[in-house]
Amino acid sequence: MKIDLSGRTALVTGSTRGIGRAIAETLAGAGARVAVVGRDQGRAQEAAAAISSEAWGFGCDIADPAAITALIDAVEKEFGAIDILVNNAGITRDNILFRLKDDDWDAVLDANLRGAFIAIRAASRGMMKRRWGRIINIASIVGIVGNKGQANYAASKAGLIGLTKSVAKELASRNILANVVAPGFIETDMTAAITDEAKKTLFTQIPLERLGTPNDIAGLVTFLASDYASYVTGQVFVVDGGMVM
Ligand code: NAI
Repeated sequence: MKIDLSGRTALVTGSTRGIGRAIAETLAGAGARVAVVGRDQGRAQEAAAAISSEAWGFGCDIADPAAITALIDAVEKEFGAIDILVNNAGITRDNILFRLKDDDWDAVLDANLRGAFIAIRAASRGMMKRRWGRIINIASIVGIVGNKGQANYAASKAGLIGLTKSVAKELASRNILANVVAPGFIETDMTAAITDEAKKTLFTQIPLERLGTPNDIAGLVTFLASDYASYVTGQVFVVDGGMVM
């Protein structure tokens, strides 16, 4: 089985590093043209150049609705279409409930949830016209089981799951599929602060006894973007070494 995405175009938010970068690399490796999106245009262009000659870099703050609409327009102009949309960009602003500020709530919900909604609404118009589309949203196991100190982050990721299922129902008749990938603990900048001591405790809860890698997520996303997944929509795929069963 070989995944062939040649002729497809993909937009991956937050793809200058971490999980998004691995997703952009894997989609490009399967033949897709990829729009690499980061907050900083220069860094997005650098990442795109390193990924593939068929990748372009775009700067966009996904917490800014007008910027997302402009991004979708710019990518459609450059590529002619967006076939595959991966909403990966995300942030954390952790604190226990009583110390969680309104600003921390808004910042996380604006980036992680509203950003995905605006991108889906804008990109799905072209997908509907072409009767083909793949929307893949990167949530988290925290959106399924919750986590102390992450009420805002968990709410944003749980919201992403509800958003995805609703979009999957609304757009299925146009052959647009929407799914969620929910990672567990993955080795990136986001988890860099976990100490070796904390990892040892963590590994007692992870049957595979290791953190995941960005490639562990990218492989599944690429499968979901491919024709092999054409009867799969509205689903949540957990990739966490068996932590949540
Ligand atoms: P990361 O912090 O290494 O990368 C996040 C990316 O999103 C960066 O490229 C960053 O520039 C971009 N980004 C953040 N805010 C943005 C904004 N306002 N506008 C544009 N780009 C923005 O994080 P990582 O670990 O690669 O995470 C990727 C996704 O996976 C996130 O949605 C995260 O919540 C999710 N996730 C990560 C897990 C982990 O253990 N690393 C576990 C579960 C979910």
